[in-house]
Amino acid sequence: MRRKIIAGNWKMFNNLSETVKLIDELKAKINNEALNCDVIVCPPFTSLETADRTIKGSVIKLGSQNMYFEENGAYTGEISASMLKSTGCEFVILGHSERRTIFKESNELINKKIKKALASGLKPIFCIGETLQEREEGITEKVVKTQVVNGLKDISADDMGKIIVAYEPVWAIGTGKTATPDQAQEVHSVIRNLIAELYSKEVAGNLVIQYGGSVKPDNAAQLLSQPDIDGALVGGACLKADSFFAIIKAA
Ligand code: 13P
Repeated sequence: MRRKIIAGNWKMFNNLSETVKLIDELKAKINNEALNCDVIVCPPFTSLETADRTIKGSVIKLGSQNMYFEENGAYTGEISASMLKSTGCEFVILGHSERRTIFKESNELINKKIKKALASGLKPIFCIGETLQEREEGITEKVVKTQVVNGLKDISADDMGKIIVAYEPVWAIGTGKTATPDQAQEVHSVIRNLIAELYSKEVAGNLVIQYGGSVKPDNAAQLLSQPDIDGALVGGACLKADSFFAIIKAA
């Protein structure tokens, strides 16, 4: 049995005081509950240290939203894996569709980042997903497979145990249009079968595959009841303690 993982991608939201407020509210809700899932929050870089201090004494874990693959150097504006580690980060979201589209990140660049994250002891949340045009052209499977094969190039079976895959159809992100549980399950199962081909049935069976894209309290339970959906990567609904906690409860 794979334990479900619910992660909140805060994107570019929340300053320091808002960070403390949101985490305090979430902690208060989680406090008395025996949860059946793991919970991760991924605030912006500037909030990581504060978030790390604020989650202390709770089950909440910390992740960041991006990093660069070099150790250090003249890379103005970039953040390294060891810098993230020093803030208390355990996870890092890599290859998010907003990074791919707005910041032109390629599968090759994402692969370098995944390798560096693993070598530094960070666990990648590796995002993949097709655009609306790609879905309408009927090439969803091909797109997702290319992202997986190139993004995970030269990653060992051992290291696969430290990776979470997040399937986020781009057309469902921030649009209120969720993939139906069947649509999501179909792609999740394609991903798991591909991992079985590339690695082994065991590696595929242990892999946590999250769904992301307009996950809300009212659709979370149905999505999370699918056999290959092992959690959620939540955007908008993670910015309020009430709605994020409702999704955690659904898991
Ligand atoms: P929304 O939940 O706002 O659609 O965002 C999903 C997402 O991009 C999480 O990484």
